[in-house]
Amino acid sequence: MPPSAPKEPSHPKSHAQKERSIKTPKQNQGHKRLYGRAQGRPLSARQTRLVSELLPKISLPSPDLPAASPMRGLPDNKPLWLEIGFGGAEHLLHQARRHNDAHIIGIEPFLNGVAKALAGIEDDDLRNISLYHGDARPIMEAMPAACLSKIFVLFPDPWPKPRHFKRRILSEEFIALIYHLLKPGGEFRFASDIISYVDWTLERVDRFHDEHGDGFIWEPDSARDWQDPPQGWPGTRYEAKAFREGRTCHYFEFFKPA
Ligand SMILES: C[S@@+](CC[C@H](N)C(=O)[O-])C[C@H]1O[C@@H](n2cnc3c(N)ncnc32)[C@H](O)[C@@H]1O
Repeated sequence: MPPSAPKEPSHPKSHAQKERSIKTPKQNQGHKRLYGRAQGRPLSARQTRLVSELLPKISLPSPDLPAASPMRGLPDNKPLWLEIGFGGAEHLLHQARRHNDAHIIGIEPFLNGVAKALAGIEDDDLRNISLYHGDARPIMEAMPAACLSKIFVLFPDPWPKPRHFKRRILSEEFIALIYHLLKPGGEFRFASDIISYVDWTLERVDRFHDEHGDGFIWEPDSARDWQDPPQGWPGTRYEAKAFREGRTCHYFEFFKPA
């Protein structure tokens, strides 16, 4: 494990805002809300157009709709990847540009992040992204077992104070859900700059076992394995902020047995 605990950021505070909101993320269906603001700055005219015109075309159906499978409309001839909480969409767009052979689902409750993803999708005419504007948990719970080849959780909201740990998205239940949704041999990639969150996740990943006694495989060759980003890593906005503020980032690739 990395030696020294870096200074931890506080969670961004909510701003009282009077801005127009186009859509609110879907309700959490019994889940406690984990994320902060659902919208920041007002959207530009282009972003407003993209949210009302492009988003419905590439959105997964809401799990609230009766008999709607979240998988409806997704290609069945490409590996499906999922990025949870894609923020400014840097990583999501980069992966979609580099991996035309995969189809990537991006989930994000923050509307401005969704708008950024939409702008990148339109700019590069990317056809291999689907989006969901809302909380990842209900829609993931509606997905069938073993449907995803990769799941990315990159710099999840840190909730650094012990009394807020329960708000961390990587709960035991969520880690079990990630495992359940991965195909055999599939990968769960996690990154964080918060030592207590790294420890928290490693403990839970290590402890998890399914009904057959199987669990995630993590076999680093050396410390470089979690100190260096994976190959082809584009960087993310939150990671850049962590570096600017002097924190060290850690990267993990856990696998479901093949
Ligand atoms: C610290 S930011 C990191 C964003 C991005 N991954 C990056 O590295 O720049 C965490 C992101 O997770 C999103 N998030 C929080 N709770 C979520 C949830 N329940 N489902 C999906 N995304 C969530 C937040 O809106 C935010 O964009």
